[in-house]
Amino acid sequence: MVQIVTNPFTPQSGLEPKILGARDGLVEEVLSLLVKRGRGEQFHLLMLGEWGMGKTSLLKYYKKLSQNKGYKSVYTALTKGDKDESYKDMIFSLLEEISFSLGLNIDISGLFKKFKNIPIATIEAFKNIYLDSNSELLVILIDDVQNASGAPKFLDILRLVLSSEQIIKDTNYLFLLSSTPGGWESFLKRYDPVGRFFRKKQILSKLDKNSLEFTIKNTLLNTGVVFKEGIIENCWHYSEGHPYELQLLANHLYDNQVKGVVNNSCWDVSLVNTIKDLGIEYFSSLYNKASDREKELLVIFAESGEYISLPELRELIIYKKKIKGYPVANIKNFVYRLIDKGLIIRRDDKKCRILDRMFAEYILRFK
Ligand SMILES: Nc1ncnc2c1ncn2[C@@H]1O[C@H](COP(=O)(O)OP(=O)(O)OP(=O)(O)O)[C@@H](O)[C@H]1O
Ligand SMILES: [Mg+2]
Repeated sequence: MVQIVTNPFTPQSGLEPKILGARDGLVEEVLSLLVKRGRGEQFHLLMLGEWGMGKTSLLKYYKKLSQNKGYKSVYTALTKGDKDESYKDMIFSLLEEISFSLGLNIDISGLFKKFKNIPIATIEAFKNIYLDSNSELLVILIDDVQNASGAPKFLDILRLVLSSEQIIKDTNYLFLLSSTPGGWESFLKRYDPVGRFFRKKQILSKLDKNSLEFTIKNTLLNTGVVFKEGIIENCWHYSEGHPYELQLLANHLYDNQVKGVVNNSCWDVSLVNTIKDLGIEYFSSLYNKASDREKELLVIFAESGEYISLPELRELIIYKKKIKGYPVANIKNFVYRLIDKGLIIRRDDKKCRILDRMFAEYILRFK
């Protein structure tokens, strides 16, 4: 009898995958940065990745790496604050959380009362935390920095504090921040020096085909379940290597195995359930960002799946779809709006395509 173990795929936000595919280069880089930083070289790191690309998983992995090297490390995620949460509240919570996670007993509110000036109070707090931590290098990982876009000064104060002479002289911190690219852009628009400060960057991309295959096969090791060749090919075609989509799809496929085998008969039901989940979690709100006219274009992009130019799009509307009364003169504006809203992507040659193949399937099957 085949022994089937619990589903090894991890489609939960931030749940560390069993196999971290295609991140070896980035991990190597962080290892060498830790060495440099341990020697006192000054820099901090920014990680950029779209939704579900693996920011949280990788930051948590970096926390373990740092600890293995003997450095204490704190992981924290910024949450979307209340509408009127100020940058001061955010800095205060960050300091309290770091102090608490390290098991230190530092009176942060006392420092904020004593030093009315926020950067000075923050410098004092970071100095105290560093000294009490007894760690040669203190690694602070802050996830989802885009959530501070309502109080962007938070980041500028952090930059100011980290570049202050006292912090450089008396402490040794390494900050690793993660953000979505769009969220980061919004900081740069407000506080340009922030970009220059976080010059070292890691950009998270989708997995390539080999890494996807490696990730699936190795996640399945010792489970008693196999994915037949065509299934892995399909996973590649539909997920295009997007880590979250891959985990979700593979999780459904695994759940539909029969006698330890996942083959074509499991495919449709798994794909439909994956798309349904993605719809609820993300695609439906994304789709609803489009106006009715834009939605009509979105269907054309979803059907094509390929990069298309504006003239090609115009042809499709008039001759293939024969949409009566479509304001063809405005296509360019509609397309630009769809790009701004993140529903389609544009290549250097100005041709555009649907954001994501799963998103295309969602539109074609459920809209
Ligand atoms: N390199 C990877 N290889 C395989 N799976 C991965 C990889 N990185 C992340 N995952 C998986 O992808 C999913 C998303 O990862 P994670 O939550 O870390 O992404 P994120 O960028 O933080 O997403 P969010 O936008 O929700 O914050 C999780 O199910 C995780 O297990
Ligand atoms: Mg995350």
